[in-house]
Amino acid sequence: MDKTRILLVCLAVWGFAGGCDGLLCNCTTSQCEKNGYRCETTGACMASTSLIDGQEQHVRICIDKEKLVPPGQPFFCLSAEGLLNNHCCYTDYCNSLDLKVHSVTVQPNSSTMMGGWGPVELAAVVAGPLFALFLLVLLGLFLFQHHQRAYGHRQRLEVEDPSTEHLYLAKDKTLQDLIYDLSTSGSGSGLPLFVQRTVARTIVLQEIIGKGRFGEVWRGKWRGGDVAVKIFSSREERSWFREAEIYQTIMLRHENILGFIAADNKDNGTWTQLWLVSDYHEHGSLFDYLNRYSVTIEIMIKLALSAASGLAHLHMEILGTQGKPGIAHRDLKSKNILVKKNLTCAIADLGLAVRHESVTDTIDIAPNQRVGTKRYMAPEVLDESINMCHFDSFKCADIYALGLVYWEIARRCNAGGIHEEYQLPYYDLVPSDPSIEEMRKVVCDQRLRPNVPNWWQSYEALRVMGKIMRECWYANGAARLTALRIKKTLSQLSMDEDVKM
Ligand SMILES: Nc1ncnc2c1ncn2[C@@H]1O[C@H](COP(=O)(O)OP(=O)(O)OP(=O)(O)O)[C@@H](O)[C@H]1O
Ligand SMILES: [Mg+2]
Repeated sequence: MDKTRILLVCLAVWGFAGGCDGLLCNCTTSQCEKNGYRCETTGACMASTSLIDGQEQHVRICIDKEKLVPPGQPFFCLSAEGLLNNHCCYTDYCNSLDLKVHSVTVQPNSSTMMGGWGPVELAAVVAGPLFALFLLVLLGLFLFQHHQRAYGHRQRLEVEDPSTEHLYLAKDKTLQDLIYDLSTSGSGSGLPLFVQRTVARTIVLQEIIGKGRFGEVWRGKWRGGDVAVKIFSSREERSWFREAEIYQTIMLRHENILGFIAADNKDNGTWTQLWLVSDYHEHGSLFDYLNRYSVTIEIMIKLALSAASGLAHLHMEILGTQGKPGIAHRDLKSKNILVKKNLTCAIADLGLAVRHESVTDTIDIAPNQRVGTKRYMAPEVLDESINMCHFDSFKCADIYALGLVYWEIARRCNAGGIHEEYQLPYYDLVPSDPSIEEMRKVVCDQRLRPNVPNWWQSYEALRVMGKIMRECWYANGAARLTALRIKKTLSQLSMDEDVKM
């Protein structure tokens, strides 16, 4: 079939497919003969001149409204240089003109290639690049979202307004100023993240001061002041994230909870360095301190009362917009309490803590049965009878551990020239890295507890401490004292003993 006839048949089919009223057009197809070479449409009139075997062929037809896509530049109305000149118009008989095919400006080769193109091919030529562009945009969107998710934490750094950075990091600001800014900054949950990152990246590490389960602790320098930097291995990213998250709980800051300064995840190309920056306390942990020194009655009371204050603040739910959720520590022990210069305590290592969402009465992460340090696990944790749906159960388990810490302190209390050597709780009943089973036998089956010596009864402060311990160690968690009750009892004792806090 020759190309002219194909073109005519095609154009006639488009022209008559619609069945319409409205616009009248000239029509050159044989189907229009009976209508006096006219057609009617709601779409457009079209005049088309094509170059076929060097001869111009003129065709006039009606185009259906539905075929006028995309609006404004319908494919059917497009021309092809050197091949086809189409003209669509929208007034009666407007297609009575004779068009010329424009001369070729494309390369001779491509002209022969295009010789076989119809409207469908032309549509493909126009739509193809558009489709490719659409795919590129989709790919771009996907990559962007992926990047967002992978660097969710880092992303928060970008969305905050870095223009306020100078307010926090003016050249003359010291660590003390920063900590003051931090305690008074509006959010109540710490420094803006971009400030945290800038601080973390300008710390100069000095010496390693300890190693724990999740990584190393270093002393670092920032603007002349000491800071502690806990460096997590890349494998421990979840622990790093969780600890940073808990420390940034709104309104958590308290003089007896380790002061958090910054979290940073720095990718050096090979691995990610995960840093938690906090206040540095040169005495180290309570475990370190008690190993080194015995304590006076006054210092014992200060250490015990400040630890109770820290734990009471952690446990307490404060309602309102500037409130805080109740938090249970779940790994309280003398190694996770730091001793400040003024010989009061700061509770640290919040990585295993759980928060209580009181509105829904739920816990913010799925708590696993037995986390923490086996030696300090409460009986209900050791025998797995703890009711994990009930947030208070975790607080009661913390109180049991606090009682053990009090025993460690009281043993080192120097009263009347007597004091005992430092020992870990249950040192005489279990081996050095006890298994859960070994602990369970002693604590649950035999119901044994650390020894409270009789001579403590001779000193009021030691008597009170002994009584508190026993009331922290009940097998029934609900019967134990609360942190607030302990704090009140020790406050009274500190006044009676004339202790200056
Ligand atoms: N802010 C700090 N200031 C001074 N010393 C610190 C500070 N934080 C930690 N340390 C020291 O670093 C040591 C290691 O701390 P880390 O919390 O990593 O391990 P840990 O508490 O000893 O053991 P675990 O992994 O069971 O918690 C501590 O025992 C303490 O001596
Ligand atoms: Mg620790």
